[in-house]
Amino acid sequence: MAEELKIAAGDKEDKYHELVPQARALVESEDDLIAALANLSAALAGTFNWLWTGFYLVKNGVLVLGPFQGPIACTRIPRGKGVCGASWAENRTLIVPDVEAFPGHIACSSLSRSEIVVPLRNRAGEVVGVLDVDSEALAAFDEVDARHLEDIVSALTHLFD
Ligand code: SME
Repeated sequence: MAEELKIAAGDKEDKYHELVPQARALVESEDDLIAALANLSAALAGTFNWLWTGFYLVKNGVLVLGPFQGPIACTRIPRGKGVCGASWAENRTLIVPDVEAFPGHIACSSLSRSEIVVPLRNRAGEVVGVLDVDSEALAAFDEVDARHLEDIVSALTHLFD
């Protein structure tokens, strides 16, 4: 595919409509995990005005920081801790409209107000990492984000064989 994203102006649904096929193509044609995650974090961050967009990968029983776009972040998150660790433990997408109302939220940046975390799964359905997105706005994420981000990360499954 072209080494450039084409995203026209529009609302969130319009942007995802253009982004999803391009993002899927970007990672489906790649066989290196880090290369795919690095480009995907850039594609997402370049499309939306988010504070932090990136990945944590399960390594030796803990989530370890992977490719991301945004300010520096915590490098390790235990299972069940914070929004990322909860998404891993519960194996489901978590939408947090107000991070201060989430028990155990890990504040990597004091600017973060809301967050969505989407699990990455291998073919067996086990969680092997998470996509974490933070916004400076309250309630920035909803089911539209969940549906499209889940669609995008499902294209990564072949990289976890
Ligand atoms: N807030 C996350 C930690 C990761 S940073 O936001 C990048 C959490 O509670 O798991």
